[in-house]
Amino acid sequence: MTTLETRRLISRPWQQADVEPFFALSSDPEVMRFFGGPQPRETVEAVVKTAMERQRDFGVWFQPLILKETGAFIGITGIAKVLFEAPFTPAVEIGWRLDPAHWGQGLVTEIGRAFIDYAFMERGFDELVSFAVHDNERSIAVMKRLGFTHDRGDDFDHPRVPDDLSHLKRHVLYRLRNGAGKG
Ligand SMILES: CC(C)(COP(=O)(O)OP(=O)(O)OC[C@H]1O[C@@H](n2cnc3c(N)ncnc32)[C@H](O)[C@@H]1OP(=O)(O)O)[C@@H](O)C(=O)NCCC(=O)NCCS
Repeated sequence: MTTLETRRLISRPWQQADVEPFFALSSDPEVMRFFGGPQPRETVEAVVKTAMERQRDFGVWFQPLILKETGAFIGITGIAKVLFEAPFTPAVEIGWRLDPAHWGQGLVTEIGRAFIDYAFMERGFDELVSFAVHDNERSIAVMKRLGFTHDRGDDFDHPRVPDDLSHLKRHVLYRLRNGAGKG
């Protein structure tokens, strides 16, 4: 399983004690705006259980992000296999969810760079994708900062978003090729 460290951050595998702060994060309407709203405890516990299994199988998954200065759980980031079918799958995605108290400091960009290096240099993946609800501007800004690029022809309706949440259905897809920008 994978632990990554940057100047300010550690991304490490899940522990049972992470359920509580992850539940708090997943109860915040601002954080969950593009995920259909706050999630009940049973859902959060199930997400952690599944993530623990997947990180064992895949070596990494969306996993806790720890602020070194305080040791606090401040969000989740990571790479994961896309588990639904779409025109761009099979694919490996990069993703993030951060406590708003820590927005605006470049923390997700910092750990995102570490995950990109890990994905391309240690795992040898050809490409990473990232996707978001079409108007999730903060997430799209992270993708752009990390060098991901957008082709409108890749945009898609997320098959796992229920029809009664139609405003969350349309997604933009961004891609980053291994070696992009290097001569
Ligand atoms: C998406 C999300 C993770 C982005 O968080 P963020 O803090 O904006 O992202 P970053 O860590 O890259 O920080 C960028 C901001 O820090 C600033 N910054 C400060 N120092 C920086 C540095 N060294 N490097 C980069 N940016 C820096 C940038 O200018 C930018 O500020 P701005 O918001 O005023 O434009 C966050 O908004 C979130 O958790 N949203 C809810 C969950 C969600 O929707 N997840 C995505 C689902 S697809």
